Amino acid sequence: MTNMLEINSLTKTYGGNVILNGISLTMNQGESLGIIGESGSGKSTLSRVITGLDNIDEGEVVFQGISLDPKKGKSLKKLRRHVQIVFQDPSSSLNPKLPVWKSAIEPLENYTDAMPAYLQHVKHNKKSMAEVLFNKVGLSKDLLERYPHQLSGGQKQRVAIARGISLQPDLLICDEPTSSLDVSIQAQILNLLKELKRDLNMSYLFISHDLAAVQFMCDKIAVLKDGTILDMFRTEEIFSETRHEYTKKLVSIALQNAL
Ligand SMILES: Nc1ncnc2c1ncn2[C@@H]1O[C@H](COP(=O)(O)OP(=O)(O)O)[C@@H](O)[C@H]1O
Ligand SMILES: [Mg+2]
Repeated sequence: MTNMLEINSLTKTYGGNVILNGISLTMNQGESLGIIGESGSGKSTLSRVITGLDNIDEGEVVFQGISLDPKKGKSLKKLRRHVQIVFQDPSSSLNPKLPVWKSAIEPLENYTDAMPAYLQHVKHNKKSMAEVLFNKVGLSKDLLERYPHQLSGGQKQRVAIARGISLQPDLLICDEPTSSLDVSIQAQILNLLKELKRDLNMSYLFISHDLAAVQFMCDKIAVLKDGTILDMFRTEEIFSETRHEYTKKLVSIALQNAL
């Protein structure tokens, strides 16, 4: 069986600076991979090149057996349908001029033949589709007509998640999905994401600088520093003696913060 996602020796530069340096990793369908790294380590750049939002300099990204080449529109279109992304800041990812229900169903308008099974019974009514999606992410239908500025940060992120799951992607990339939220809301959003992953059988590429969150969400963890993967392991191996020194440092900081 081929891997769902395979990244081989990926290099990305900006203005001559190497931002991602020889990244290789694989993900199987249904598996979730966490990327942990400090600010500036290249996490968001990685998520952008995987989704084709940005081009790569060297190496390749292969999704479901098809190489992602930004010059070939067809593979990009397939990729976009099966890979969705939830960004850190829901305020900048929702259109301020649209009632939020329209943002939630936006991907469905671009891929009219990609309706997931759980929306089939309402497929003739866009607003009903939004209502089903809102229900899935724990939002009241009373909020459908609101504009982004009329929602809390947590509610806006739920709308962004509703949009992210609207095509039932095989892979949902979550780039620090709780970092902009109040601490009290973060756990609720993590729990929601975990529930949805099980319910919809999605894989996550879950990006964070919060080790506890990555541990909670993922089967495997990759440690990114200065654009290089220093360490990669199954989550249950996180305390192993064989971990990279840098990983051990992250673990000890996380343990101290938890006290
Ligand atoms: N569009 C860009 N142009 C130039 N440099 C960039 C661009 N995007 C990111 N960078 C640089 O790449 C590095 C990694 O950024 P980023 O991927 O956002 O890290 P992270 O998400 O881990 O905080 C940073 O040094 C950042 O300044
Ligand atoms: Mg980032």
